[in-house]
Amino acid sequence: MKNITIGLMLRISCLLAAAAASSWVQTITKGNKNITKFHFYVHNLDGGPKFPNTTVYGIANASITSTSPTNFGHIDGFDDRVTAEADINSEQVARVQGTAAYAGLQAFVIALNMNFYITSGEFNRSTLGMAGHITAADRLREVPMIGGTGAFRLARGYADSSIYSIDLATGYSVLEYKIYVIAHSDEVVWTGA
Ligand SMILES: *[C@@H]1O[C@H](CO)[C@@H](O)[C@H](O)[C@H]1NC(C)=O
Ligand SMILES: *[C@@H]1O[C@H](CO)[C@@H](O)[C@H](O)[C@H]1NC(C)=O
Ligand SMILES: *[C@@H]1O[C@H](CO)[C@@H](O)[C@H](O)[C@H]1NC(C)=O
Ligand SMILES: *[C@@H]1O[C@H](CO)[C@@H](O)[C@H](O)[C@H]1NC(C)=O
Repeated sequence: MKNITIGLMLRISCLLAAAAASSWVQTITKGNKNITKFHFYVHNLDGGPKFPNTTVYGIANASITSTSPTNFGHIDGFDDRVTAEADINSEQVARVQGTAAYAGLQAFVIALNMNFYITSGEFNRSTLGMAGHITAADRLREVPMIGGTGAFRLARGYADSSIYSIDLATGYSVLEYKIYVIAHSDEVVWTGA
């Protein structure tokens, strides 16, 4: 009886480990479409140059940024680690590189340009491009996925993100992302020369 219980527990823990290892990316096929879901965490270290692990740097300010109540015209550049779990030391699955421009004169609005470069798994080295609008005060932010390369040529979809944790003292925030993209491999049928 004891052996059966231990055997069962081992099998269950192996199944859980297998599910955890691959759960950051899943693809289902519907008709001629592949729909891929990503679920991962972006680590934004915005503590400034005094921290050696900073991943976000200011690129520019506009002439009105210093007097703008909404930081209008300020642009940040970043290169953030993306991991399968919320812990920064969990498996790196991508880097995300891009810019965030404060684009609202009346509200804290950001025009985001983010490029996910996948570094793990079956889609290693494919990219996903995201560009669009976020209102900083929104709890859930939705931004269009505008395309991709490699396995994600002609992809489209959307990304939902929310703040998983934030530490204002060190400027460290963890953002949880769920990205859904559709890609058809049969969409370009080039028959010309
Ligand atoms: C970043 O570096 C600081 C200072 O070296 C350290 O205290 C902090 O834990 C680091 N942050 C992360 C998320 O690793
Ligand atoms: C933008 O302005 C802020 C506030 O004055 C300043 O701390 C920052 O260094 C400036 N950044 C750039 C890139 O000029
Ligand atoms: C991903 O590709 C890089 C080369 O760009 C290679 O070094 C690495 O081993 C690959 N990783 C996986 C998990 O396939
Ligand atoms: C779906 O993905 C599979 C595995 O990567 C691939 O072989 C197939 O061509 C894809 N199908 C479509 C319609 O994109």
